[in-house]
Amino acid sequence: MLSNILSKVGNTPVVSIRSESMPNIRVFAKLEFYNPTGSVKDRAACYIINRALNEGIINKNTVIIESSSGNFGVALSAHAKLNGLRFICVIDKNTLPVNEMLIKLHGAEIIKITEPDKYGGYLMNRIKKIKELLHERKDLYWVNQYGNPLNSEAYYSSLGKEICREAPRQHVEYVFMGVSSGGTISGVSRRVKEENPNAKIIAVDIYGSVIFGGRAKKRYIPGIGSSMKPSILEEALIDDVIMVSEYETILSCKEILEKQSIFVGGSSGSVYAGIAKYFRNIEVNQPINVMCIFADRGERYIETIYNEKWCERIKEHSEVMKTVLK
Ligand SMILES: Cc1ncc(COP(=O)(O)O)c(C=O)c1O
Repeated sequence: MLSNILSKVGNTPVVSIRSESMPNIRVFAKLEFYNPTGSVKDRAACYIINRALNEGIINKNTVIIESSSGNFGVALSAHAKLNGLRFICVIDKNTLPVNEMLIKLHGAEIIKITEPDKYGGYLMNRIKKIKELLHERKDLYWVNQYGNPLNSEAYYSSLGKEICREAPRQHVEYVFMGVSSGGTISGVSRRVKEENPNAKIIAVDIYGSVIFGGRAKKRYIPGIGSSMKPSILEEALIDDVIMVSEYETILSCKEILEKQSIFVGGSSGSVYAGIAKYFRNIEVNQPINVMCIFADRGERYIETIYNEKWCERIKEHSEVMKTVLK
């Protein structure tokens, strides 16, 4: 018996995905929504809090603070509560009501930013608010997923290790990952390259994100992309970057549900779309193994990705973006 569900982070299942349109591409998806609060972010939340407590970086009187509009906020609120720690989550107007509800019910305090930043998003103002509070109070620990090396270490020591162990014949050829804070790809890429120096690490990002040098534009799907370049990415070992649109993401999410019966969240669709796009112009004559990460489940996206009216609006927006950002 488990003492607490939150001790069950990691060791998520891997499923094989075959597609007639990519006969030689053997895709293996790591289903990260099997983590206790429903996403890959349980790994970072659990690891960072435990390491910080064990190393005396924080203690029972510390208040954890982080900017997140989604999965990380949910994961941190649960793991902070488990450890008897207070947590302040700085969210914004775009945070999904279900995420806000979950963060609150896990006992976190919420600060909601309503003023957009110069990019039309809220990230800069969420971080500005945290910096103001850090200046005023001495009891805060800012997790800072974009710059905290513990974020990357969390994935080096767990997800990266699992991918190496679970790849067919423990031989990793490709790994495709969505990028937001950069923690997942930094940690996983270092671990995978250590054990498989010839493995190719492909970052998947979304048009409108600035992570790999694109121009900032309004984005609607949370969990992938960013309006700032995360410093944690400096440690990442990335071979190639593939950009996808939000509309391609939506189509892929629906294809995964229809053909594979897996109900995935946005970034999983982006990653799958990225794999198809990447190999479209490459001749692959013998089977290759492609590992990828499905970071969260579809439930939190029923009003967006799985809502026809919303998708129509995104289709128009994506078409415009393709031409503007070319
Ligand atoms: C759904 C989803 N996919 C992918 C990611 C990207 O992970 P990272 O922030 O480690 O780059 C996140 C991060 O929040 C996420 O929520």
